[in-house]
Amino acid sequence: MAVGIFDSGLGGLTVLDAITKRLPDVPFVYLGDNANAPYGVRSAEDIFDLTCAATERLWAEGCDLVILACNTASAAALKRMQETWVPADKRVLGVFVPLIEALTERQWGDNSPPREVAVKHVALFATPATVASRAFQRELAFRAIGVDVEAQPCGGLVDAIEQGDDILAEALIRSHVEALKRRMPHPQSAILGCTHYPLFEQTFREALGPTVKVFSQPDLVAEALADYLTRRPEFIGGGKGVKYLTTGDPASVSNKATQILRKKVSFQTA
Ligand code: DGL
Repeated sequence: MAVGIFDSGLGGLTVLDAITKRLPDVPFVYLGDNANAPYGVRSAEDIFDLTCAATERLWAEGCDLVILACNTASAAALKRMQETWVPADKRVLGVFVPLIEALTERQWGDNSPPREVAVKHVALFATPATVASRAFQRELAFRAIGVDVEAQPCGGLVDAIEQGDDILAEALIRSHVEALKRRMPHPQSAILGCTHYPLFEQTFREALGPTVKVFSQPDLVAEALADYLTRRPEFIGGGKGVKYLTTGDPASVSNKATQILRKKVSFQTA
């Protein structure tokens, strides 16, 4: 048994990297659905079906706890999965809540009523499907009142990152930040609401300027998972290391992943 980490492609590696540094002794299985990425331009129905199939694949690896290290799947599919599909002995968790708890300065699992918070103007950068779902605003409304969220769907960005086209990715980030700033000239905080985007966090920071506080998920999710596993140690499992699975071409996915993680990574066919 191990903890399963899922993303549509390579973006979840940013989360896996932070998690393995925080929890070096916990075994993991990473699954990238590279054959079907990007998810961010798909319908909610499609994302639900693909995410359920990937989760079942991780269950078959003995991962009773699966982390959707993908905001698009967390936004478009997770609620429905938890309400209608996940059996009682399994857990599927997303990556939104740790981010929103950090933004609203809440402790893990603080379920008190929504309250006024310091941050008032938040820029959200995410995939078109995540923005369309409004899941971020829904989760935020459970915890905070009076926060104005301006969401920018970053069309094309995940594709550029998956293809390793850094020049295009940087140009798209600058143009998406400009587009957002036309609607919200002075955001106080910015959320990188897609696990691919931390790979270009510096470009986002430069385009946003020094006054904007940038929230990025990997460390926040790693901390939240460490806390969860302290409370639910039965999900840790007994293996060792990380197994990497992909629905895409293992050789080319391994090459890209090796560049991202700056260590040799070998993916196998899922
Ligand atoms: N990394 C993903 C996310 O966090 C998926 C992006 C995509 O496949 O479009 O949203």
